[in-house]
Amino acid sequence: MRLILDTANLKDIEYFNTHYPIEGVTTNPTILSKEGGDAVALLRQIRTILGEDKELHVQVVETQYERILMEARAIVKLLGENTFVKIPATDVGIRATKTLSAEGMGITVTAVLSPTQAMIASLAGASYVAPYVSRLENLCEDGVGCVAAIADVFAYSGTKTRILAASFKTVKEVLDVAAVGCHAATVGSDVMKKMLAHTATDTSIADFAKDWERAFGRHTLLELIPNERD
Ligand code: G3P
Repeated sequence: MRLILDTANLKDIEYFNTHYPIEGVTTNPTILSKEGGDAVALLRQIRTILGEDKELHVQVVETQYERILMEARAIVKLLGENTFVKIPATDVGIRATKTLSAEGMGITVTAVLSPTQAMIASLAGASYVAPYVSRLENLCEDGVGCVAAIADVFAYSGTKTRILAASFKTVKEVLDVAAVGCHAATVGSDVMKKMLAHTATDTSIADFAKDWERAFGRHTLLELIPNERD
């Protein structure tokens, strides 16, 4: 399962894009609102950090069919190749998805909360569907089960639409969707960090350092290995 970063924070994007195996960035109006300022300039900066090959998912704000089409085309014109326009899974959203996908635009149908929404989005030509895992779990529904059901439906139908699961509050949710055939997950910076952090790893490293120092002193291998020039 591929990993994407769910933030518009430039510092985090710079860090994770450089050091972690992420394949792009997703944003939405709420995520952009957290950064404030000039949203267009911010999106341009995100694209510059990512380069032209990584995915950037940007959500429409317009709510009327013709205006969504115009906004989607403007987003792609602004941000170039590998930009995916996020459109909510509503009646007007599906209409726009069908039109824009037929033009060859990459569409991520977002705010997906049921497998039937995902099915319709895929038939309308969406490149991705984005089921909201934690939001479902917080409604006492089965977020991971929803992703699993979508994965089954997509596998049977042979659709090219991919699942980009979103709205993660826990590391376990990320792992669980990976195990049911999810293609990609977009996770916030905090969850991304928690995916790697483990106190037992930290204590293991501390033990290694203690044992090494007891036997060899404070010199590291780097300092003990003879330099080629010596
Ligand atoms: O991409 C946005 C989606 O992940 C929503 O997340 O945390 O607002 O439920 P959240």
